[in-house]
Amino acid sequence: MKSKKVKTIFVCQSCGYESPKWLGKCPGCSKWNTFVEEKQEPILSSNQSARQLTGFSSGTFPLNDVTVKSFERIKTGIKEFDHMIGGGIVPGSLTLLGGAPGIGKSTLMLQISGALSKVGTVLYISGEESLSQVKSRAERLNIAKDNIFLASETNLENIVSAINKIQPKFLVIDSIQTTYHPEFSSAPGSVGQVRECSAELLRIAKSQHITVFILGHVTKDGDLAGPRILEHIVDTVLYFENEKQQIYRILRAYKNRFGPTSEIGIFEMKAEGLKEVENPSLIFLSENSNTVAGNVVTSSIEGTRPLLIEIQSLVARTNFGLPRRMVSGYDLNRVIIIIAVLEKRIGIPLDNQDVFINVVGGIKIKETASDLAIACAIASANNGVVCPDKTIIFGEVGLAGEVRAVSQIRERLTEAEKLGFKKAIIPKSNLKSLNYKGKIEIIGVTNVHSAIQAIR
Ligand SMILES: Nc1ncnc2c1ncn2[C@@H]1O[C@H](COP(=O)(O)OP(=O)(O)O)[C@@H](O)[C@H]1O
Ligand SMILES: [Mg+2]
Ligand SMILES: [Zn+2]
Repeated sequence: MKSKKVKTIFVCQSCGYESPKWLGKCPGCSKWNTFVEEKQEPILSSNQSARQLTGFSSGTFPLNDVTVKSFERIKTGIKEFDHMIGGGIVPGSLTLLGGAPGIGKSTLMLQISGALSKVGTVLYISGEESLSQVKSRAERLNIAKDNIFLASETNLENIVSAINKIQPKFLVIDSIQTTYHPEFSSAPGSVGQVRECSAELLRIAKSQHITVFILGHVTKDGDLAGPRILEHIVDTVLYFENEKQQIYRILRAYKNRFGPTSEIGIFEMKAEGLKEVENPSLIFLSENSNTVAGNVVTSSIEGTRPLLIEIQSLVARTNFGLPRRMVSGYDLNRVIIIIAVLEKRIGIPLDNQDVFINVVGGIKIKETASDLAIACAIASANNGVVCPDKTIIFGEVGLAGEVRAVSQIRERLTEAEKLGFKKAIIPKSNLKSLNYKGKIEIIGVTNVHSAIQAIR
């Protein structure tokens, strides 16, 4: 990095208006908080080369002549992690690890560093904690410390010199929000800083073939504080999706250039670090599943893995004003549609009832295949009928109250059978092509009404 101060300007991200200083409101488009500090491009004469466009240019070759370099993935030995990222870490890749404060980013990263240090030198930069804090965590986690270098540093210029000195194979930046580029005046964590720092780190990573992990905090609404822009730059985005109040930590791959997405890793936070969970389906079932009205077990495919998940519903008379719909772990809008279907197609009066939905274990179900279970949970809570024991329910619900086919039926049924389930209420349209030969009794339904009758 050049030590000479670069000239920076502030640019409206909405309309491109430029200003020498930060402005709250854009004079160009009247939007608020759109200004981001950027490097001012020098005007180049034709024989000057543009800035930093080199670094990892390959030259041009006929596709036929390009040889495929086979890369060997590096196993971290943390099975759950290796599985979710597609079999191990790809050398030279750039990974973003996000999550709420306290969820376990530094813990997981230090565990991974311990494993990686057996393959090559790790440089762990912490801008959040002192050297002794990181050291004492490393002691608690009992990781190999031989090949790990630590620096408590936030200045990118110093980080770059540390990289040049240590020449690590693996680099950890904990976190991107505390790292700042000294040539920019905006605060650490701002969009401009995060963008410039990440871009610089990417250049180093790709030119020196360093595998980089960038840690970042996430705000309540699930955005990486400030910078979603990071997601485009990196190869892999991993994100802890639940809250730290839960013992279990769910890590989800949102983007993965080298493996599957929407794959999840389920960990338990222990004193000695994040440990994989033996039987993940069990943690999403409560002790009294299927003995209380309103509780229904469904099956959701998370990545490549079927999980049994319990859905709990409570229906209570609205005391005042508009009926409330509160949902945790499922898409609120889908629940509202399902409630409308129950009212209009089946005649369950819910317009003066509060409806609460909770997905056990803090997981966020992304599939629509649990629609039918949500509908049955609400109906069960409303009429006080307990769903029969050891029964799973799944299917997508349409606006007419019809139950639509879902995918991977055999996997769902096999997982349920493994956990001792006896009965399954599934879309009838799935029966034709079903190649399941197990012991579960299957009830095919065409609409929500028959599913509710089947649980009576
Ligand atoms: N001695 C301990 N025993 C068990 N868990 C601990 C211990 N110390 C910290 N933790 C867990 O580690 C979490 C903090 O993890 P950390 O990796 O620092 O999170 P992040 O880097 O995402 O902010 C705490 O919320 C707590 O659950
Ligand atoms: Mg941390
Ligand atoms: Zn503007």
